[in-house]
Amino acid sequence: MIRTLEWTSQGVRFIDQTRLPMEEVFVTCGTYQEVATAIRDMIVRGAPAIGVAAAMGIALGVKHSSAPDIATLRTEFGQICRTMGETRPTAVNLFWAIRRMQQTFEVAAPQGVHQVKINLVEEAQKMLVEDIAANEAMGRHGATLMPASGGVLTHCNAGALATCGYGTALGVIRSAISSGKKLHVFADETRPFLQGSRLTAWELMKDGIQTTLIADNMAGAMMRQGKIKAVIVGADRIAANGDVANKIGTYSVAVLAKEHGIPFYVAAPWSTVDMNMPDGEGIPIEQRSAREVTHHAGKQVAPDGVLVENPAFDVTPNKYVAAIVTERGIAKSPFADSLRELAQAVPDLAGTRR
Ligand code: MRU
Repeated sequence: MIRTLEWTSQGVRFIDQTRLPMEEVFVTCGTYQEVATAIRDMIVRGAPAIGVAAAMGIALGVKHSSAPDIATLRTEFGQICRTMGETRPTAVNLFWAIRRMQQTFEVAAPQGVHQVKINLVEEAQKMLVEDIAANEAMGRHGATLMPASGGVLTHCNAGALATCGYGTALGVIRSAISSGKKLHVFADETRPFLQGSRLTAWELMKDGIQTTLIADNMAGAMMRQGKIKAVIVGADRIAANGDVANKIGTYSVAVLAKEHGIPFYVAAPWSTVDMNMPDGEGIPIEQRSAREVTHHAGKQVAPDGVLVENPAFDVTPNKYVAAIVTERGIAKSPFADSLRELAQAVPDLAGTRR
């Protein structure tokens, strides 16, 4: 399995996703500031991976602190958490991870600085193991939704590279294929950052999964030709009513799928569900640099001074979503009810390999 990120004695080690697929290069961040930069610059990306990376960054910052007492450490810890929280606004997994580290800090605080450091490092590593287990559980649930054979379209990268391993949407595809389904993946290239062509195509081909890369504007034609039997994507934040924020272009795919009578599925761990967000309207959408649109592989492809919009995510209203697959089970419309029920459920992590 691809090691997207891991805790090492030197720091947090990432496969550099800005260099894929041409180079498989690993970078080790030795400070929490370097981890924050790695998240912002998308060396590590994908909602679940961002969450665990932030937790590891926090653990690293606290581990290196020379604070003599809990009060001083708490002040430093607050600063570290703020730095992590300012990296990327849309994926709620980031804020979920920070909250979990804050709880861990407070539980250990009465036992002193040394114990806080131990517990935070352990908690971050536990989150990595849990993320893989959640993906495997999602795979088991979601595989039942996949067709017995045919094309499945995905957008962006919701695979091993976007998580700590196995993937969410691609985890469902992996699991369906292991159970004997004959799936062929259509990967949208996902302009402007090209997560589909650079990352999804790379990781699926590494696993020997049949993959066809298409430009984003080809999805409708492929559906019309009957080549796509289902769509499955990941998510960066799911509101309590089932509205889904995911990579820009997801909304267009969902609308196209509805027009063609193709089910549109979302796979995401419970840490992506924001029950405090009533609907998708309030989800903050990250705006990224205009250069990502005006330049391609370092070369300018648009006139000087052109106005550019570059929202990194869009929101797909729940009416387009056939089902949301989580490690707790599958939610279907009406999502306000099904997600509220899952909020009470225990994650189904039975039978996981780790
Ligand atoms: O900007 P990115 O590459 O971090 O965006 C990633 C996505 O939109 C993914 O689809 C989402 O995070 C789910 S990953 C399991």
